[in-house]
Amino acid sequence: SVVILDFGSQFTRLIARRFRELGAYSVILPGTAALERIAQEKPQGIVLSGGPSSVYDAQAPRPAPGVMDLDLPILGLCYGMQFLAHEAGGNVKRAGKREYGKADLTRYGGQLFAGIQGEFVAWMSHSDSVTELPAGYEVVAETEDTPVTAIENPVTRRYGVQFHPEVVHTPKGGQLLANFLDICGVRRDWTAAHIVEELIADVQAQVGEEGRVLLGISGGVDSSTLALLLARAVGERLTAVFIDHGLLRLGEREQVEAALRPLGVNLVTVDARKEFLGALKGVSDPELKRKAIGREFIRAFERETAKLGHFDFLAQGTLYPDVIESAGGAHGDKSGAANIKSHHNVGGLPEDLQFKLVEPFRTLFKDEVREIAQLLGLPDHIRMRHPFPGPGLAIRCLGEVTEEKLDILKRVDDIFISGLREFGLYDDCSQALAVLTPIQSVGVMGDERTYSYTAALRAVTTDDFMTAEWARLPYDFLATMSNRIVNQVHEINRVVYDITGKPPATIEWE
Ligand code: XMP
Repeated sequence: SVVILDFGSQFTRLIARRFRELGAYSVILPGTAALERIAQEKPQGIVLSGGPSSVYDAQAPRPAPGVMDLDLPILGLCYGMQFLAHEAGGNVKRAGKREYGKADLTRYGGQLFAGIQGEFVAWMSHSDSVTELPAGYEVVAETEDTPVTAIENPVTRRYGVQFHPEVVHTPKGGQLLANFLDICGVRRDWTAAHIVEELIADVQAQVGEEGRVLLGISGGVDSSTLALLLARAVGERLTAVFIDHGLLRLGEREQVEAALRPLGVNLVTVDARKEFLGALKGVSDPELKRKAIGREFIRAFERETAKLGHFDFLAQGTLYPDVIESAGGAHGDKSGAANIKSHHNVGGLPEDLQFKLVEPFRTLFKDEVREIAQLLGLPDHIRMRHPFPGPGLAIRCLGEVTEEKLDILKRVDDIFISGLREFGLYDDCSQALAVLTPIQSVGVMGDERTYSYTAALRAVTTDDFMTAEWARLPYDFLATMSNRIVNQVHEINRVVYDITGKPPATIEWE
């Protein structure tokens, strides 16, 4: 294995992820982990992550005594490289200006870059720089601004790079990390199946022989996959609760039931449609809708779990990006950002519930969860599903939500989403949805004048849902959708397609 010592970089998890993609097993430990703890992992190599510190800070974290003396290859990234150089007797200078962004290596070579050819674009984010090399080291890469961009000591097998090979902005970084694995002699046979086994073992260790686990199911890929994993780990001691708030897509509840029950998930579905409609009555402001749904969700969940006996653990499908975001790590302090939407997640639960949390996916990314989902047997239509907001169709039914409006919207949405699948366009969109607008307009059907609602279709492409482009769906497809909708849903006589990006619009209409 490779042990990654974490000195507080926002990218540490990405290092592990890259090793995983290369088929190698790695473990992240705190930067200051004791030598004995590190030895337990039987490491063949060590990575020192980046971090916000400067080697000259009194508080700068450093590896525990003995770690740097290990007869193993050590790779330092960013702060890790500065530490390596400083510790071996080199000099690190506090630069006045920060170097941030992409830089071209003007030359590179040595063991870390073996076999890499052509231009090498490196992602930089540092203010300190190594200015004097320790004895035995040589410079193996440079950029215009940073003469010492990569260093190595081939005898002691110490390597350092000032940039971040683990991020996508360093396109050939993966090859560099692969070279490090080769230097360490790490095997490359670590697969998703191993990860599933490891996650199951971890859950069993945490929950013990007796513990009962409660899980809220939303119908999305994360909670569904978690249900399958937990069913494998603790069997009947898992109870998965699925609250049908009536704001789901057509047939979604049945799909989730059909996917999970046969695979051994003890699933309780709660029909709370009436309660949610009641809570939404007379509410037309989007934020108040979200709040009402959030409150009602907690109520329904508490009501139901009170009937189910005592639980020791609450499982949550928290993913790694959620962990970074809520720590404010990835994007710094977000408190200054305007609250555009409260993004109440209906999977979110009351804060005063007295459970211990089980969060097996805390270290995983979405695509890793999807890979695991496939192994666990989750059907593709759930596994590859677009994201769906917690408040569901309530925020796509503009204005006050009523049963009639929901019923119209569900039929429109189903035609659109089924159409995308039928025409092979579903996977080209990151998210697609239908909106029921309150606009009524005049039309003509047969020889009759109509005065009915306008439905809006929206499809977007995006990497991160923070910004998005409207999907350039083929005109013929849109024409077919429009025809089907007005013919099959009599309450609709006009269909429009949303051609606004985000920003300035948001993906949802409310
Ligand atoms: P917006 O509309 O802000 O949406 O561009 C970005 C992404 O977030 C989803 N979304 C929500 N998800 N609760 C959720 O769980 C919410 O209240 C909520 N509002 C928006 C939206 O579907 C898109 O994927």
